[in-house]
Amino acid sequence: MITLALSKGRIFDETLPLLAAAGIEVLEDPEKSRKLILPTNQPGIRVVMVRATDVPTYVEYGGADLGVTGKDTLIEHGGQGLYQPLDLKIAACRMSVAVRADFDYASAVRQGSRLKVATKYTAIAREFFASKGVHVDLIKLYGSMELAPLTGLADAIVDLVSTGNTLKANQLVEVERIMDISSRLVINQAALKLKQAAIRPIIDAFSNAIERNTVPS
Ligand code: PRP
Repeated sequence: MITLALSKGRIFDETLPLLAAAGIEVLEDPEKSRKLILPTNQPGIRVVMVRATDVPTYVEYGGADLGVTGKDTLIEHGGQGLYQPLDLKIAACRMSVAVRADFDYASAVRQGSRLKVATKYTAIAREFFASKGVHVDLIKLYGSMELAPLTGLADAIVDLVSTGNTLKANQLVEVERIMDISSRLVINQAALKLKQAAIRPIIDAFSNAIERNTVPS
């Protein structure tokens, strides 16, 4: 049995066409079903639905053989024990620094002020500000980061930005782009060896599908 870990939302939706390219069809909709293990049209392949931040952990410890996870999640997890053969180029967005429109970020950075930064992505934020030589106090949050500068909890946030609508709706402005983010295929290293015959064709089908999508015809 091959177990694939996915998370609800964009990652699930945008992985479906890649699975289709590998001849795999998920037989239940996780938005409608409360089941956590979803069958596919292939008796030897099943999908497990986990929290996005738990995908690397499931794959690292073999609770799933492979999974799809954002580069953001992977960096925060550390990626240890995971084979990462493919950038799937799905669920694309960026990791950015944002502040209140009336906060003078450039001056604060220039003057060497100590910035209070709220984020779910503490590893990425720590590394980014350290590389700029900016002193920060990191405040770990688990969601609704946009609220932190509005309530005085923090001067800035580090968060994912896709359309920019969430920032705009909360009168925040993006002041720096830290990195582009997309989702990766991650594979348990032991599973890759032991279940090679079943896993290889999935990697190859995903890889071909990505190439077809990105190379203009
Ligand atoms: C992300 C991010 C922002 C929002 C940005 O949250 O944290 O809140 O998307 O998207 P936008 O630029 O298109 O408005 P997500 O919905 O992934 O949920 P999360 O808060 O659980 O991370």
